[in-house]
Amino acid sequence: MQQEYLFPIEHKECSARQRNILNSPKQLGDSDIDSEPYLKELGVDILYKKQPIQFTSNVNEAIHRWAPYVQGFSASFVQSIFDQYAQDYNRPTVLDPFTGCGTVQVQSKLNGFRSFGTELNPLLKFIAETKLNCWDVSPDELLKIFNNLSFNEVTSSPKFLKSEKHFSKDVLKNLEKLKGAIDNLSSRVDKKIIDLLNLAFSAILIEVSNLKRSPCLGYSKNKRVDSHAPFVLLNQKVYQIAEDLETIQNEYNDFIQVTSKVKLANAMEYNHQDKFDLVITSPPYMNGLDYVINYKIEMGWLGFAENQIDLKKVKDAMVVCDNVSKGLIKNFRPTYNNEWIENIKSNISQNIMRRGKYRRQDMPNIVHKYFDDMFKVFEKVVPKIKRNGRFILVVGDSLIADVYVPTDLLIARIGKDLGLRLEKIEKARNRRSGQIRSYKLRETIITLKKS
Ligand SMILES: C[S@@+](CC[C@H](N)C(=O)[O-])C[C@H]1O[C@@H](n2cnc3c(N)ncnc32)[C@H](O)[C@@H]1O
Repeated sequence: MQQEYLFPIEHKECSARQRNILNSPKQLGDSDIDSEPYLKELGVDILYKKQPIQFTSNVNEAIHRWAPYVQGFSASFVQSIFDQYAQDYNRPTVLDPFTGCGTVQVQSKLNGFRSFGTELNPLLKFIAETKLNCWDVSPDELLKIFNNLSFNEVTSSPKFLKSEKHFSKDVLKNLEKLKGAIDNLSSRVDKKIIDLLNLAFSAILIEVSNLKRSPCLGYSKNKRVDSHAPFVLLNQKVYQIAEDLETIQNEYNDFIQVTSKVKLANAMEYNHQDKFDLVITSPPYMNGLDYVINYKIEMGWLGFAENQIDLKKVKDAMVVCDNVSKGLIKNFRPTYNNEWIENIKSNISQNIMRRGKYRRQDMPNIVHKYFDDMFKVFEKVVPKIKRNGRFILVVGDSLIADVYVPTDLLIARIGKDLGLRLEKIEKARNRRSGQIRSYKLRETIITLKKS
């Protein structure tokens, strides 16, 4: 479905990129309209079900609030799924193949449901696991250890990061003192307490830095951080965790021992031992965030990466994003294909040729690899869904080089290809394309069911 460029603008003062944006046939466009031919083929309509789906609301929720995370979804969304299917499953076993910071699994445990997850970023796996498996730590003991930290030794900032640029001099000194105090706790201290303190330390790093995540990590020009901020914020965070532990032990005592396992594993390769009633997940969005670079500060400080090569290794194993290594795309050999993907690829190629330049010339293959990666995840997950079980995904669509990519509908099609029934597609909210701000994208909830 190739479109003509409608308003050929030749302003000399514009850069080539600006000209392409102004000339785009997708100005004022709408993904719902561009989706019509695909929906017709799938035989479904999009239902409108506006709801707060983003992580932001989790900042007020016990446990979920322990670590800041920008790409997660809301605990209330996960709860709404549990409530919706309460009659269908008695204590469902839940899987999230892209666990992230563990929203699905924490909410599962708060309901007393067993849950399993895979996550490739070791920092996020650590965060999720600590949020899930430290519920029996005594809040008093945590505070006692924290309040008696001794600051005799420092831990230097990670060598491979530009910490002198990331933090002001005095903030950096205080961070090194705090990390030194945690790292030099006696070996007799419960490992779960050390994990909670490290989690708390990781949670304040961006706040006390000269950086911001909005959602990508970058410098924040006018940010001023008080030199004592690391002490003040760590104190607040540890007291918040202690308060939540008290709540858990009072209100969720019966669920403390409920199984919640997170594997540091690739969702495209991992062979699950269990079978699942509900798979609830949000995969990386195509063209979206780099989940490794975005968390490199915390990964470095907590020792999950020692150099850029460590970071690159994790990134290249992930479901592809548009910041992926060129070599990986060059060597890509697809296992999954269909005519939608072929048309999209060919339209993107033509538009890149017409533009003359694009940030990634290999974009058609990046797009193809995204769906190939998702297919591999489905191949691992679908056989492990119980009869009448559901696979629920939250996904955003994309606009790439003026070509609409119905990511949600393509993922629904993959599910159908593997024998699942497409139960419904719901639009949770509108988004804006990063490239053409007037183009309306959406965030969708896909529900697939195994008969
Ligand atoms: C959108 S986030 C999920 C967020 C999660 N719903 C939450 O609320 O925390 C996608 C996650 O998938 C992880 N990921 C990407 N590729 C992966 C793969 N092949 N296997 C396992 N995890 C992967 C990323 O590190 C990221 O944490």
